[in-house]
Amino acid sequence: MRRCLISLREVPDGTTADPAAVRGLFGIDDLPKVDIELAKLHTFGLAMVGRRTLSGVQRKISLGLDVDRTTLQVAVAGRQYVLKPPSETFPDLPQNEHLTMHLARRCGVEVPSFGLLPMADGATAYIVRRFDRPDGGGKLRQEDFCQLAGKMPAEKYDASCELCARLVLRFASEPLIEVRRLFRRVLFCWWTGNGDMHLKNYSLLADAAGRHALSPAYDLLCTRLYLPDDRLALPLGGRDKALTARHWRDFAAYCKLTPRAAARVAAELFGVKDDLVALVHRSFLSSELRQAYVAGLEARAPVVGELARDGAR
Ligand SMILES: Nc1ncnc2c1ncn2[C@@H]1O[C@H](COP(=O)(O)OP(=O)(O)OP(=O)(O)O)[C@@H](O)[C@H]1O
Ligand SMILES: [Mg+2]
Repeated sequence: MRRCLISLREVPDGTTADPAAVRGLFGIDDLPKVDIELAKLHTFGLAMVGRRTLSGVQRKISLGLDVDRTTLQVAVAGRQYVLKPPSETFPDLPQNEHLTMHLARRCGVEVPSFGLLPMADGATAYIVRRFDRPDGGGKLRQEDFCQLAGKMPAEKYDASCELCARLVLRFASEPLIEVRRLFRRVLFCWWTGNGDMHLKNYSLLADAAGRHALSPAYDLLCTRLYLPDDRLALPLGGRDKALTARHWRDFAAYCKLTPRAAARVAAELFGVKDDLVALVHRSFLSSELRQAYVAGLEARAPVVGELARDGAR
């Protein structure tokens, strides 16, 4: 079976992407070319400050379509995409992010358009549409939680999930709606074995009217595939591992969610578990990594299920 590099849907032999998915991500009929070779990318590299997990290992770059709309280039105005090429250290990192974004979307987490893209040197990169540069509009203001907390970038691990909740409750225009979105995201990231959700991986985005909401999700990965003993980047209830349903109930209360509302979020995640497993199997990860991904989901599913059943009480 051949799968679309963007949508993961089945495509006919000899095809790499479903035309509707290409149009949705790029607004053109054929996959664009990338005018940079992987080997040269480091000269454009942005932040690469390694900390205790995968942070910064992925080089990334902003790109836009050229005037002919066939090639993604660095030197164009209004660059609307972020491209993340493979890492030399961690296998299938772009495929991992691509899959995890699909899982997030299935779990009701808002994500921008994203896909995989073949590069000039044959490697596969992850590409995502920038959510802070809407079509035809000016750049939207994005503030990550490190900035909101008044911390230096190097202090991005020096926090907790409770601090994230406080920041949302304090700075979002609709605090109770946004904190529920945060709760869903934190639960999703824990379920998918993401040990790198530090303060810079959450942001508030201001719309044109100046209203602040949680930005679409980014930097979603199963870091456990590479660092099996990985812990949460930010502790929840004072713990960074071995969380039980009780810890999630306490966190939900901290987020001012009613037990029913928290159970509903958990039920929405737990209810699509079979779809998540199916998506892992359709993904472009190696079969070994697919198995490890599913094993992680299965291992933590009982806690999500227990939380979901609170709603039935
Ligand atoms: N789709 C997007 N639209 C707009 N901004 C984005 C998008 N994706 C990422 N960013 C911004 O770019 C920054 C770097 O992206 P990302 O976190 O995905 O890369 P990273 O190299 O894995 O980061 P790190 O390892 O430092 O956490 C983010 O902190 C965010 O501010
Ligand atoms: Mg990041």
